[in-house]
Amino acid sequence: MQFFLDTADIGEIERGLELGMVDGVTTNPSLIAKQGKPYLPTVKEIAELVPGPVSGEVLATDYQGMLDQAHRLAELADNVVIKVPLIPEGLRVAAQLDAEDIDTNVTLCFSANQALLAAKAGATYISPFVGRLDDIGHDGMALIEEIIEIYDNYDYATDVLVASVRSTAHVLQSATLGADVATIPFGVLEKLYRHSLTDIGLDKFLSDWAKTGKSFDD
Ligand code: E4P
Repeated sequence: MQFFLDTADIGEIERGLELGMVDGVTTNPSLIAKQGKPYLPTVKEIAELVPGPVSGEVLATDYQGMLDQAHRLAELADNVVIKVPLIPEGLRVAAQLDAEDIDTNVTLCFSANQALLAAKAGATYISPFVGRLDDIGHDGMALIEEIIEIYDNYDYATDVLVASVRSTAHVLQSATLGADVATIPFGVLEKLYRHSLTDIGLDKFLSDWAKTGKSFDD
């Protein structure tokens, strides 16, 4: 499973790349707004830093406006993936970009039927938002299971990108279900490393050796 970082924070992206666990990045308007920086230059800066796919979202909601912004985003760098919302005009844009060989990430997916439409439109990635579904009492991961089953039934090429990930359990379930990608907030990525027995075991190893009074080279 690929790990994307769900952030527009350059510090987090640099640290994630250093850890060797980041295959790509997803941004959205809210994440870029949080950085207080201009829109296109931020997507460009991230795309230049990250070797893998970087999702940058259109801000327009009409067909021509989205398509124009998609082309401007795509010109920033070869690895920019165009994020379009799951609305009728968004899927028309996804189909057009597919015809132009430009990768897309269809975002704000909350149902299996929406995911089916995105695959039929030729989306490169579909982003179902599991955390936001959990927030309203639905089962976000059940949606992932359903989408994977549908895509397998018809051999759709669209990759399932689990979004709105809030916990390490979401990451584990994504991997168990065979999702292609999980886009993970930096705080959740850090938590994946942690286990109390790892810390206890390491402390014991080091303190046992320290008791000998010898160093690494003795
Ligand atoms: C996906 O690409 C979105 O940027 C993101 O996962 C949304 O997450 P949130 O629901 O935590 O805002």
